[in-house]
Amino acid sequence: MVDVGLDIWVVSSVLALVASSPSLAPQEKTYKFGRGFLGLDKCNACVGTSICKKFSKEEIRFERWLSSQLHLPSAKRTTYEGNYTDASQIERPVMLSWLMSPHLHQVSDWSICRSAGRERTCSIEAVLRATPRFQTWARSNLLLPSMVQGLATPMLRCPSQRLLDRIVRRYFEVTDVGSMQMKHFTYKDKLRLLYTMAVNQHPLMLQMFPGMEGWPFPRYHGSCGRVVVWAGGRALRNLYSSPLERRVDAAYQLLRITQSLASNSLHFNLYYTSVSEDMFGTLDDGRVFITDASTIGIIDLQDGFYPDQGLEHQSVDIFSCLSGSCERPPPCEHVQPSQSFLLLCRNILTKLLAPNDVRSAHLPGEAMRQLTVCANQSQSDQRILTAAQSLTELLKPMRPCSRQYEYRYPECLYIHNF
Ligand SMILES: *[C@@H]1O[C@H](CO)[C@@H](O)[C@H](O)[C@H]1NC(C)=O
Ligand SMILES: *[C@@H]1O[C@H](CO)[C@@H](O)[C@H](O)[C@H]1NC(C)=O
Repeated sequence: MVDVGLDIWVVSSVLALVASSPSLAPQEKTYKFGRGFLGLDKCNACVGTSICKKFSKEEIRFERWLSSQLHLPSAKRTTYEGNYTDASQIERPVMLSWLMSPHLHQVSDWSICRSAGRERTCSIEAVLRATPRFQTWARSNLLLPSMVQGLATPMLRCPSQRLLDRIVRRYFEVTDVGSMQMKHFTYKDKLRLLYTMAVNQHPLMLQMFPGMEGWPFPRYHGSCGRVVVWAGGRALRNLYSSPLERRVDAAYQLLRITQSLASNSLHFNLYYTSVSEDMFGTLDDGRVFITDASTIGIIDLQDGFYPDQGLEHQSVDIFSCLSGSCERPPPCEHVQPSQSFLLLCRNILTKLLAPNDVRSAHLPGEAMRQLTVCANQSQSDQRILTAAQSLTELLKPMRPCSRQYEYRYPECLYIHNF
C-alpha cells in the first residue's frame, strides 16, 4: 500500500519479524502486531505517529500483550486497557482505541477504493489526495468552515472560525503546535487531520480541551497509525452496584460536568448528541470524566454559526461517510438547551439512582421525582433544566467527605460546599 517513510518504525518492523519466528516462547517478546495491527500501513489515512516510538520501545503494554494467543484486534472491539511507562518507570493506566472497529475501518477503506472505481485494493492515500476537498485543503493555510462542510463529526456540525482555529492551534500531531495557520503542516499532516475529523473526533476533542485546563477529558498521550492512546480509568458502570453515597457523588459530578460543558469561559457550548454508559469513567481519586468524546457537539456561543443551508448545498463527498455512516446529527438550530441533561438523566442517572434507594437508603423522594422529570422527553425544555438544577442541589449535601474521594478531600472537611 502506501509508503509511510517512517524511520522510527524500522525498529518495530524488526520486532515483527522476530515475532513471526515460531520458536519463541510466549514469555519472550511476542510483538505479533506491527504496522498492520496499528493501522500504520494505512497512513496517511490515519491519526498520527506521535506515540509510535513508545510502542516500538514497548513502553506501552496492554491486555494479554505477552500472550501467545494475541489475536488482536477483534473485528468489533475498539478499545483496550493498557499500561504506559515513562522515564520515571511509573506505570499509568491508559486506553488504546482504534478510531473505529477494525471491521468498520475495513468497510470504510473499501468505500474509498470503490469511490475511485477500484474493487478492494487501491492506494487509499492517493484516492483521498485527489479529491477536490483535499485539493482545497492543500492550497489553504487556514482551516475554513467550507473545508469541513458535509463531514459527519458532531463537533463540525456548525463550526465557527474560532473553533476551527482552536483545532489547528491545539493539534498535537504536528511538530510545531500553537499556530492558527497551517503553514507548517505538510500535506501528510493535513491529510491526517482531515481523516481524523472525518472518522472520529475523539482524539481532537482531547487535544482541544485538555484536562490540565480543567476540562473533564482524559489526557491525550498520542497516536500511532489508527490507534489513539489516552489516560485510562474505570468504567462508570462499575459503580452501579456500589453504595448510594458513591453513586450520589458520581451523579452530582455528572450533572456538574454537563453544566460546565454547556457554559464555560471559552463560550463554547459542548452538548451531547447521544449518551451511553461507555461515555463516562472514574479515576482512582473518585473523579468522574468523559472517556468518549466522539458524540459531543459544539456550538460557538460567542461567534455563532451560519444557519444550515440544507443538504443540497452541502459538499457531501467520500469524507462525509468515512465514519461508517453518512448520517449527521440534527442541525445546531434544533439543539434544545435541555438536550444534554435529558440524555444524561435518561440514560445514565436512572441507572445510578433507583426508586429502591428511596425506600432502603435515604435518597430523598424529591430527588427521585426531579430525576423522573429530567429524564422525561415529554417535559418542556424549562422543566427539564429546572429539574436538573434541583436534583444537583439535592445531591450536593449528600456527597460523602472521605479519603476515598481524594479529588476533593481533605478540602471538603474545611470548605463548606466544596
Ligand atoms: C497494568 O499494571 C498493573 C500494575 O502493574 C497491573 O496490575 C495490570 O494488570 C496492568 N494492566 C494491563 C492491561 O497490562
Ligand atoms: C412524562 O411527562 C408527561 C407530560 O407531563 C406525562 O404525561 C407522562 O406521564 C410523563 N412520563 C413519565 C414516565 O413520568
